[in-house]
Order: sequence, then C-alpha cells, then structure tokens
Amino acid sequence: MKIQPKVRGFICITAHPEGCAANVHRQIEWVRLQELLPKPPKTVLILGASTGYGLASRIVSVCGAKADTLGVFYERPSVNGKPASPGWYNTVALEVVALRTGRKFYSINGDAFSSDIKSKVVRALREKLSPVDLVVYSLAAPRRTDASGVTYQSVLKPTKQVFTSKTVNTDKGEVFETTLEAATDEEVLQTVKVMGGEDWEAWIRLLAKEGLLVPKATTVAYSYIGPEITWPIYQFGTIGRAKAHLMETAQRLHSFLSETLQGRALISVNKAVVTQASSAIPVVPLYNSILRKILQEKGLEEDCMQQIYRLFSGLFGGKEDWVRESETCVRLDDRELNPSVQEEVKRIWQQINTENLRTLSDFDGYQKKFLQLFGFECEGVNYEADVNLDRPMRHLLP
Ligand code: NAI
Repeated sequence: MKIQPKVRGFICITAHPEGCAANVHRQIEWVRLQELLPKPPKTVLILGASTGYGLASRIVSVCGAKADTLGVFYERPSVNGKPASPGWYNTVALEVVALRTGRKFYSINGDAFSSDIKSKVVRALREKLSPVDLVVYSLAAPRRTDASGVTYQSVLKPTKQVFTSKTVNTDKGEVFETTLEAATDEEVLQTVKVMGGEDWEAWIRLLAKEGLLVPKATTVAYSYIGPEITWPIYQFGTIGRAKAHLMETAQRLHSFLSETLQGRALISVNKAVVTQASSAIPVVPLYNSILRKILQEKGLEEDCMQQIYRLFSGLFGGKEDWVRESETCVRLDDRELNPSVQEEVKRIWQQINTENLRTLSDFDGYQKKFLQLFGFECEGVNYEADVNLDRPMRHLLP
C-alpha cells in the first residue's frame, strides 16, 4: 500500500512508517556523533515519549546516556489498513535500535493522566526496570480526566482581551488577520488543569511514595515563553497561565525532592520548534516560519534533539551551555530570544503578507518540517514503494 499525506488543518491524518523511521534514525545519528554524557542517568521515565521534545529526550537517554527507558504516550496503532499515528512508528524505530544495543526499552500506550496508567508504570518499574534517576514530563494534551473522573478541556486563547494578529493558513500559504476572543475564567481554569503542574506533581509524589526515585533523582518539565509578538496568545494566554502553574509546581517539587532525596525538579524553557502541539497554536506557525529563516541564516537554528542534548549535557555532564534563571528554571531559548534575532523577526513581521511569505520567511521549510513530523518528504524514503503499515512494538506493556 502507498501512503500519501492527508492534511486537515493543523493535523495530518496519515503517517508513513518508513519516513518516521528515517526521522528517528537521523536524530539517532546526530546524537551518536556527540560525546556520551559523562554522568548519565541509568533509568529514565519519559511521559510523552513518542514525538517532539519527549521523543528527543528518549533518544538522548538511549543513545547519549545508554539508559534504560520506560516511555508513556498516547498513540494509535494501525487498524483496518489505516496507518498508525507517527508517535507509534517513531517508537517502533527507536525500539529496534535500543534493543539491538542491549538497552531495556519498555513502552506503555495510554492516558498518562489516568490512575490506571500510573499503576502500570509503577508495576513496570518494579518488575521490569528499576527506580528512576530522571523523570521527563513532556505531555502536550488537549484534555485531561483527573483521578476523580472530572474531565477538563484546554483552549488556546488570550486571557486579557481580544487579540488581533497576523497569522497564516498553513495549507494555502495565505497570511491574514485573525481575531481571537479572550478566554473565560472557566476556560483558563480548565487549561491550567490540563497543561499545568497538577499531574506532574501527582506523578512525582506517587513515584516517591512507591520508592521508585533513586537518591538525587531529577525531574524536568518543558515550557515556553517566546517573544512579545506571541505573548498575547502564549505567555499571557491560557497556555501561559498553565505554564505559570507548572513553574510554581517545579518550586514545590524541588523543595520536596531536595528535602527527601537530595533530588531536584526544574523547568527547561525550550525554543519554539515545529511539532504537532505547536502547529495547533494560532499565530505561532507564522512566527515559526520567520524564526526558522533568521536562525538558519545566523547559524543558530536548533531542533528538538539539539535542544535536549544541550539540556542533558548540562544536567548530567557539568557542561552548562544554557542560562540558569533560578534554582528551578533553565533557559534553552537564549538563541531564539537573542535581541538581534528578535529585532529581525519584528521587522519582518511588519512587512509579511501572502505575496512575500515565501521570501521573507522559511514557510516552505515550515511546511516540509510539518509533513516530516508524519513521515512525509523525508530524504532517502521511496514513497512509491508499497509499505507494510502494521508495525508491532516488541516491548509494549499491556
Ligand atoms: P508533541 O505533540 O510533539 O508531543 C506530545 C506527547 O504527549 C506525545 O508523545 C503524545 O503521545 C503525548 N501525549 C499526549 N496526550 C497524552 C496522554 N493523555 N497520555 C499520554 N501521553 C500523551 O508536543 P511537544 O511540542 O513536544 O510538547 C511537549 C512539551 O514541550 C509541552 O509541555 C510543550 O509545551 C513543551 N514545549 C514545546 C515547544 C514547541 O515549540 N513545540 C517549545 C517549548 C516547550
């Protein structure tokens, strides 16, 4: 069967297994060219391990730290001749490499917010792996049902007032003005429940209670701040309110872990990258298209993998090539927020329109990167060949 991309707004409903594998192999090759982390974690739990920053965290753990990993994600296997979701194929490709190199590699597919999946992780760590040195919290989800059964829905809206901004229709390549209504208090609360720190804290307290964190364990969650252009929709938007809660949670968790285990909790503020989650945020794809062009021209562009390797090098090797903002916050977005980069972004932002979109920004590169998330337009893949869509994971725990 041949697989073609079927894009519906900010999602592609098909995925190519060989293309997803090519993406993973490219990232693995890059990590293998770097130095091994001098003081690596031995066992790593990654929540949201199948795409974006979580996948990069798992690849660096496997290939840069030679760690055993347990990955949790919410992905769709192939059924009835339909392709699996990209995170499924990514994990299958990484699993092959991890098992070949003798690493323990287990995966759990299900809702990380649920008590059921939390119990499965506890059991898996106890029976198949060992207490963990590092917990990476990299979930990006539209909704959450908490332990008491209440479901919350996140929204991506400004909070203060109506926000009018340029944006791009990523299918048609048309720049236009969009107006986003301000969220209600209830919508803010619900977004904080989904993307704030409550679930991260529940995970860490559970693992500590179960004796599944080693002394000096680390936990890290990912956040974003970005430039003024996106503040109304990001930092001062519903998602920003959730990230502020995540930041407060890091302080609470840090006190708890440092007192009980001499451990640490922190937030890594990462740069903007093209992922499934970021593609869904209004205004951000246009900003990303401009940012990519400027960072590439200045030789400052980094992808998820390069960001996470830089983060882990500082955390587990002593080479802190990032800005430490506080005990519980490190900044990996220094290149993105470099004043010369942002001045250029602002200048282009004023001028950009549908006619000059492809010359003033890397919109073509953005579109290609978006399709690559789903395994399309990847170098070295024969898209004319028939592919087997059904790719089982060997160490997927029931
Ligand atoms: P992504 O969409 O690529 O990955 C999300 C991951 O969460 C996937 O592994 C998915 O399977 C998993 N997931 C979603 N719902 C789940 C559930 N209910 N149970 C278990 N797993 C679930 O997202 P991305 O962009 O890598 O985001 C990860 C974190 O990084 C987020 O906190 C995001 O805010 C942060 N971040 C993202 C930036 C970006 O530009 N993409 C920039 C800075 C931070």
